Amino acid sequence: MLTRLDLFPITARIVGDGASARLQIGGCDLTDLAAQFGTPLYLYDRATLDTAVAAYEGALSAYPGPTGITYAGKAGMNLALAQWAASHALWLDCTGQGEIAVARAAGVDRAQILVHGVNKSPEDLAAAVDAAGVIVVDNLDELQRLIALADDGVALPQLWLRLRPGVAVETHAYRQTGQSDSKFGLSSDEFLAGIRLGQAHDLPLTGLHFHQGSHFHDPAPIGPALDAVLDLLAVVRSETGWTAQHLSPGGGWGVAYHEDDLPQPSVADYVGFISNGLQGGCAKRNLPLPALHVEPGRSLVARAGVALYRVGAVKRTPNRRWLLLDGGMSDNIRPALYGARYSALPVVQPGRSASGSAWLGGPYCESGDVLIQDLPMADVTPGELVAVPASGAYHIAMSSNYNGSLRPAVLWLDQGEAHLIQRRETVADLMRRDLPLP
Ligand SMILES: Cc1ncc(COP(=O)(O)O)c(C=O)c1O
Repeated sequence: MLTRLDLFPITARIVGDGASARLQIGGCDLTDLAAQFGTPLYLYDRATLDTAVAAYEGALSAYPGPTGITYAGKAGMNLALAQWAASHALWLDCTGQGEIAVARAAGVDRAQILVHGVNKSPEDLAAAVDAAGVIVVDNLDELQRLIALADDGVALPQLWLRLRPGVAVETHAYRQTGQSDSKFGLSSDEFLAGIRLGQAHDLPLTGLHFHQGSHFHDPAPIGPALDAVLDLLAVVRSETGWTAQHLSPGGGWGVAYHEDDLPQPSVADYVGFISNGLQGGCAKRNLPLPALHVEPGRSLVARAGVALYRVGAVKRTPNRRWLLLDGGMSDNIRPALYGARYSALPVVQPGRSASGSAWLGGPYCESGDVLIQDLPMADVTPGELVAVPASGAYHIAMSSNYNGSLRPAVLWLDQGEAHLIQRRETVADLMRRDLPLP
């Protein structure tokens, strides 16, 4: 049971013995936090976040050229997380005007704001031109819009073109992005056309981006995509003279959500694979070495996050023991969206042995609102707290107000202190945009 503890932030400890044993994270007692801030409650452990950045920095240090780490803010973005990214001099990947505004408010250096988007609205594009250091161009229509702006005398940030290498990685179909029928990015022919257009209009085209998908555990399938990218760069260079100063193979490295996912292969394996592949591939094709940018989301923030729920009821159906929680698909859509498999521990006496399998269901009016299925679990009773690890990525970021639910509060845990970084939504928030009938 206690290998489950390895899914939690690196500061997770069981403090006390016997009936008083409790789960502590970041030096904070989870029972106290739930009493003070209520549940469902999300926690981010700063030490775990910092350690994740250090793993990427260490892995990139072997690359002989310039490197950059871009935090993919789509995994989870708020003012505090953007400030944290800036404190590590991370670049920040923003999708659209909303995230750009958060990055600016957090004081992220303009040069380090990188804007993605598969169909950027006019407002998104205007915000990106105004505030970003890099726009990653998804399609030729977007490029034409940027050309029109440049022709009007607008100074553009650096532009990187997003390529769709046409090779899929092994992950859930909803998390694949690089395959040939993906909605993301340019085909090889479009990429070449984009470079020619850029040259004709003197655009600041400086980089190539591709992103193969999310939550994969083996770097090897990136190899064929990287080869396809470098083959294309060799063709582009011989036909146009253009070379990529910056190359980003996106993000996508996976994390462990369940004890069956342990041990999780290291970030060093993943980054080493890309870094070596890029060096070898460039040498083979006689291409200059670009700056290498990585763009992780999940693998930077997932493990640092914990979701804390209170069990309201325990129900037995013919074949199941249900623990009914006070949160579910509105704060974590991943199990319903892609069958994501999670684990959990009771907060008090977390080392208790399992009394059988449990199904952890949420309170919402959907049969799919089941956070965890068939998990060996102790004999948890109503009123107890349950902590779900690896909750820092794509939970709050994808949350909703389904059934009029209120988004949870979010805390920042740092050396025994808990700081509120996002307050719980209120009923007034729910109606803030509503207007009465005339
Ligand atoms: C363009 C791009 N970059 C980076 C990421 C981050 O992926 P992950 O959180 O799996 O690292 C995504 C996620 O889908 C993405 O679309």
